[in-house]
Amino acid sequence: MKLFIDTANVEHIREMADLGIISGVTTNPTLIAKEGRDFLEVIKEIASIVDGPISGEVISLEASGMVKEGIEISKIHKNMIVKIPMTEQGIKATKELTRLGIKTNVTLVFSVNQALLAATAGATYVSPFVGRLEDTLHDGIQVVSDIRNMFDTYGFDTEIISASIRTQKQLSDSALVGAHVATVPYAVLKKAFTHPLTKNGIEAFMKDWEETFGK
Ligand code: E4P
Repeated sequence: MKLFIDTANVEHIREMADLGIISGVTTNPTLIAKEGRDFLEVIKEIASIVDGPISGEVISLEASGMVKEGIEISKIHKNMIVKIPMTEQGIKATKELTRLGIKTNVTLVFSVNQALLAATAGATYVSPFVGRLEDTLHDGIQVVSDIRNMFDTYGFDTEIISASIRTQKQLSDSALVGAHVATVPYAVLKKAFTHPLTKNGIEAFMKDWEETFGK
């Protein structure tokens, strides 16, 4: 499973890219707004840091507007993925952008049926929102697992981005049930590096070494 970072914060992206663990970036209108910066400027900066898929989301609600915006987003950089909301109009736009050879990420997916529709329209990625499902006491990981089984059964090329990840368990479970990608917020990625036994182990190794050989 590949790791993407789910943020528009370029410092956080730079830090994780520097560690060599991320192969893509997802943004959404909320994440862009949080940075308070111009969309184009932020996306260009992200593209200069990470050489991998970068999702930029359309804000139109009509298919024609989504397609127009999607074409513009695709022109920003060769790695751009047009993120489209999972609606009837979104699926129509996905079909058209696919026809034009533009890659898409159908977002706000909460069910197998939505993933089936997105894949049928030719989406490059679908993004089931695990955290938001689990916030409402649904089993988000089961949805990811079911989508994976369905894609495998019918030979869809569409990749699953396990999104809206809030916990370590949601991240590891995404990997275990076969998500192709997990897009993970900075804080969750940071935490994934750590384990109390790793910390204790390093301290014990250092102590034993120093007792015998000095500092
Ligand atoms: C997906 O690409 C979205 O940007 C993101 O994962 C949404 O996460 P949230 O539910 O924490 O807003």
